[in-house]
Amino acid sequence: MEIKKAVIPAAGLGTRFLPVTKSMPKEMLPIIDKPVIHYVVEEAIASGIDDIIFVTGRSKRSIEDYFDESPELEMYLRQKHKDDLLKMVEDISSMVDIHYIRQKEPKGLGDAILTARKHISGEPFAVLLGDDLIVNKTPCTRQLIEVFNKYRCSTIAVEEVPQEKVSSYGIIKGTPLDECLYSLEEIVEKPSVKDAPSNIGAIGRYVFTPEIFDCIKMAGSGVGGEIQLTDGIRLLNDMQKVYAYKFAGKRYDTGDKLGYVKAIIDFAMRNEYFDQDLKAYLKTILGADC
Ligand code: UTP
Repeated sequence: MEIKKAVIPAAGLGTRFLPVTKSMPKEMLPIIDKPVIHYVVEEAIASGIDDIIFVTGRSKRSIEDYFDESPELEMYLRQKHKDDLLKMVEDISSMVDIHYIRQKEPKGLGDAILTARKHISGEPFAVLLGDDLIVNKTPCTRQLIEVFNKYRCSTIAVEEVPQEKVSSYGIIKGTPLDECLYSLEEIVEKPSVKDAPSNIGAIGRYVFTPEIFDCIKMAGSGVGGEIQLTDGIRLLNDMQKVYAYKFAGKRYDTGDKLGYVKAIIDFAMRNEYFDQDLKAYLKTILGADC
């Protein structure tokens, strides 16, 4: 069975990005003119997903509005014959089938995923975190789906993280099977540097068999009193094989202020409308600092 459904958890409080996240979801932060979540949805579609379940919470209404039709705006653009803009706006609301579920309280990523259980109805599915932006010709989620299609096992995307950052990630220990694929042996949520089994961390892309739901439920709350996805993955790995895959691509953690700034700079430098002007401008400020 081909994976067609994806869960996008976007109900977190975004405390690393306060104060703006007081009233605005971090997933809606713009990378120039498109919110991060738009890129995440595009990745899901390009990976073969045709049914998306957003897990949202309070003050996340702007995500629903963004992917909905906007009749007044569309009528205005039509009257003004702004056809390109009209098409852009209409395309967003017709991209894919989207459903919304609310996580009543932000009790952790594991809990957010559990909220989507009924909609998944016993199928394997993908999870894309709404604040991880990944750029690659073959989308990261597609890479995981291809591993799943070969081995029919849950697969999590991983990357090497700097030593000083291991205590911010779920860190794995794995047996390498080839250059990019590991058989998962252990996964620990936010270990101290000295207890970390490696510097390979899980990032915001996963493909799961439906047994993950029972495992999250069984695991209960973990680090920080939150229902951690990592604990669910550990139990799943006791029950059936789980793989970790070193994906190809560049990832930006846009839930982190520096990660967000890096994404904006890189996207702006690749933007054909102002890359030359921007390079010239950057030279003036970098030159002034040297
Ligand atoms: P994060 O830990 O990055 O999100 O969760 P956060 O809690 O919003 O951010 P900080 O750490 O306070 O800044 C990763 C993803 O899981 C979602 C978040 O929205 C984000 O996409 N999440 C997290 C939920 O949907 N519900 C939760 O209870 C927690």
